[in-house]
Amino acid sequence: MTETPGHVPVLVEEVADFLLARRSGPFKMIDGTLGLGGHSSLILRRNAAAELLGIDRDEAALRRATEALGFANGRAHLVKGAFSSMTEHASSLGWHLVDAVLLDLGVSSIQIDSPERGFSIRNDGPLDMRMDKKSSKTAARVLNNSTETELARIFRVGGVRGAGKLARAIVERAREKPWRRTEELVELCERVLGKGKRSLPPATLCFQALRIFVNDELKELERALPAAVSLLRPGGRLAVISFHSLEDRMVKHFFRREASECLCPPGLPACVCGQKPKLKVLTGKPVTASEKELAENSRSASAKLRVAEKLP
Ligand SMILES: C[S@@+](CC[C@H](N)C(=O)[O-])C[C@H]1O[C@@H](n2cnc3c(N)ncnc32)[C@H](O)[C@@H]1O
Repeated sequence: MTETPGHVPVLVEEVADFLLARRSGPFKMIDGTLGLGGHSSLILRRNAAAELLGIDRDEAALRRATEALGFANGRAHLVKGAFSSMTEHASSLGWHLVDAVLLDLGVSSIQIDSPERGFSIRNDGPLDMRMDKKSSKTAARVLNNSTETELARIFRVGGVRGAGKLARAIVERAREKPWRRTEELVELCERVLGKGKRSLPPATLCFQALRIFVNDELKELERALPAAVSLLRPGGRLAVISFHSLEDRMVKHFFRREASECLCPPGLPACVCGQKPKLKVLTGKPVTASEKELAENSRSASAKLRVAEKLP
């Protein structure tokens, strides 16, 4: 019932249990990464009084979610936009405090499985990678117009080993022939970085790094985390699922900082920072998929869920 055709939500029971714990009756939730509405659908079904603000940058995802959440007459408010602007979207509904915020980062299976979107290393398509088709920054533009230093940084940040070598090869090739297709980039990644003996093919990390840059994903997350905390009412919960170590680290450090009682540099004789903890972290270690989920959905293998609760 919670599976949306084309995308199987990960850790869906765990997310619903964390976000709905101790709550019945009125419940306002923001799903900043609505996708096909898998997580939101379960929450709206479990709590008949729950109201949802669902946000996604992708118009195709919003169309699918509108169908999937049709049962929730009037309880689901869906908007196209970036989750970094959740405060503005919430206030246009007159929402100033909410009970839960969910961010299920990255792309959905329908985005990856649509070759024309350019996210996949498996099926050839245009080098696009935009979640929001109205944005002007495509992967091809980035590859054709960036300097070697800029590209090396994009790949290094994304954890690609051999980022410098790859950047050089991309720039050299762009001088002869502009980048257009995903299969050309997969072929270059394999030629420059090898096919890889590790679990992930080198092209996977390279595509992920480029996608993160094209969609400004790290900045989005950096802005969204404090916005979500400000929107939560005391006892409200923030859940974040990440699929990349970079994002998981950002969430972990943010939670740790917001939960700490003192941010003074070590060695000071007494606390002078006046820090007041805003969050209680509910997941010491990130929650990962069960054996059962792993067997049913390979996408869940790299998913990490962290949850924190707003303190009074
Ligand atoms: C992993 S999918 C979410 C799947 C969803 N939880 C479900 O169950 O169907 C991530 C979705 O978030 C969207 N997205 C990613 N970053 C975004 C951002 N900064 N603002 C708004 N939407 C974003 C993507 O377009 C994609 O549809």
